[in-house]
Amino acid sequence: MRFLHLVGIGVWLGAGAAAALLVRVAAQDPPERRADRLELVGRFYAWLVAPAAILASGSGLAITMMAASAGYGARLGEPASAAMQVLGLLAGALEIFGSFPASQRMLRAVLASPGPDLAGAGERMRRRVALLGPTALAMVIVALYLGIIATPRG
Ligand code: HEM
Repeated sequence: MRFLHLVGIGVWLGAGAAAALLVRVAAQDPPERRADRLELVGRFYAWLVAPAAILASGSGLAITMMAASAGYGARLGEPASAAMQVLGLLAGALEIFGSFPASQRMLRAVLASPGPDLAGAGERMRRRVALLGPTALAMVIVALYLGIIATPRG
């Protein structure tokens, strides 16, 4: 389960960073190239970012439940571990209910009118993805740090 947790986090960070970069670059692109880049962002979210966010958060929840029923409740309640769990859940929720649906609406807008100008709703969604995506990633990075210091080695 920890393996799935770490794979989810790795893919989430990698694909999320690529999507965040593409969304930024697209804003300065010559208009005829924008649609291609934004389409790629939508596909990244659908195939990598959202599934990885679900995998990381879902496996985290599963580890919490297994560890709690195995009697490790006290460790789960220590500040770094608890903060990792809360921040991880918030980052997952932000991605799954915020940036992911916005990316899919943006994708639909791009596919519906692939011309140089993104219509109003599409542009609003692009801005939302550009804001929420990196915010969620920053939370994942802090959660990663907390998860590393929370887990005893030996
Ligand atoms: C942004 C998302 C998250 C990140 C970056 C993250 C990071 C980590 C890391 C680095 C570890 C240590 C793994 C190891 O060394 O084997 C870990 C373990 C763990 N994570 Fe997460 N995590 C996230 C989300 C969650 C969520 C949402 C939960 C549960 C609600 C959760 C629960 C746990 C538990 C219970 C452990 C084992 C802790 C222990 O053994 O003391 N994680 N996490």
